[in-house]
Amino acid sequence: MAALADSLRADVHRMGAGERLPSSRSLVERHGVSPVTVSRALALLAAEGLVVTRPGSGAFAAGRREAAAEPADLGWQAVTLGDRSVDAAGVSWLLTPPPEGVIALSGGYLHPTLQPARALATAMARAARRPDAWEMPRLGGMPELRAWFARTVGGAVSPADVVITSGGQQSLTTVLRALLPPGAPLLVESPTYLGVIAVARASGLHPVPVPVDADGVRPDLLAEAFAMTGARAFYTQPTFHNPTGTVLGDERRAQVLEVARAAGAFVIEDDFARHLGIVPPPPPLIAQDGDGRVVHIASLTKATAPSLRVAAVIARGPVAERIRATQLVEEFFPARPLQEALLELVSSPGWPRHLSAVRAALRSRRDAILTAFARDLPELRVNRPGGSLHLWARLPDGVDDTALAEAALRAGVLVSAGRPFFPAEAPAPYLRISYGTAASEPELAEGVRRLSTVLRS
Ligand SMILES: Cc1ncc(COP(=O)(O)O)c(C=O)c1O
Repeated sequence: MAALADSLRADVHRMGAGERLPSSRSLVERHGVSPVTVSRALALLAAEGLVVTRPGSGAFAAGRREAAAEPADLGWQAVTLGDRSVDAAGVSWLLTPPPEGVIALSGGYLHPTLQPARALATAMARAARRPDAWEMPRLGGMPELRAWFARTVGGAVSPADVVITSGGQQSLTTVLRALLPPGAPLLVESPTYLGVIAVARASGLHPVPVPVDADGVRPDLLAEAFAMTGARAFYTQPTFHNPTGTVLGDERRAQVLEVARAAGAFVIEDDFARHLGIVPPPPPLIAQDGDGRVVHIASLTKATAPSLRVAAVIARGPVAERIRATQLVEEFFPARPLQEALLELVSSPGWPRHLSAVRAALRSRRDAILTAFARDLPELRVNRPGGSLHLWARLPDGVDDTALAEAALRAGVLVSAGRPFFPAEAPAPYLRISYGTAASEPELAEGVRRLSTVLRS
């Protein structure tokens, strides 16, 4: 579509105002594309103001806009906005699709061939047919969806403890804003999901690193960090941690809760990859929480598709009230059609089948990429994750991970430098390599081969 739009844009610039573009049918024939692609390209040019479409008579070149010649003076804005800024570089790197021909070993969502596209289309169609689909949902979320999340999490959680939110990232924003005032410290694992570092900083919080090892966060250092900072919250991913893939050990689960209890602090549990277990995951921390210490975030985009932006926050006591109030003030409620669609999806008989298929595909892909690493890059230390989408590869000392990721992109493979996953200094260079985002296992192997060529050079 982009190529057709580029070509039409060039044509339109050569045409006079009011001149007629070739018909859709001749564009289909000339460019060898589908009618849908033609109408999407024309819609894009119409949105850019370059063409005007008149139903029944075709598309016409629009007149040049005079204003374009004289760019407005926007300099005043820099002064007015002041010295605050929002750093979206890392998040944008993760969310930008790779250029044509580049193999994606980066990104946080399943390749489209692993997403339940047909089931999502059916769920959305059924949701949209409901006569009240566009009415307000019940505040806090659809009762059946809240009940589904409560059942999935288990323990003593009840549907009343669940609030439906607009995805995992939005949940992080809402929870952090609800729990902590600007300027407060937030303890986070080091490394951690770079999106939480970004959202914490954008909310005026100070992420403070607490190291993880092969068993997850170290409780002794967590206790020290609480003592040194007086922090009132710790953000953690105990299950299939991003980026290291670790699962917090059984003994440590109790210790982390105990350390947080001693500090009078909350534990924010980001359970983003529960359904992507190559091995069965342990129950979430909140299932063993006896005093409302854990605020649990359950998102489903990782097991489905990035635009299914509905998730849940589960909490008990006054903090739940604070979170509900914060959400209401910030965004009213998540769009009802999406809530309905998610409910349709998870209640359909195909849902467990989809999850089993994804887990089997991830197991096979993980094994394939590890074989490729053993063959082409035996000198790199990589972990063997029990779930989720990523490998965490330790680079040889002295290698610049950012420069390497940039060189890899030029060589046709997209990987993530480890540096942005550390809230402060990185103790060593790493790469995060995703095995769920490429099109196929041969692509994974080819991606590793390209990476080895870059590393050797
Ligand atoms: C650990 C973790 N938490 C939360 C998110 C946010 O995802 P979403 O908003 O799609 O639920 C991501 C996405 O990459 C993630 O990796």
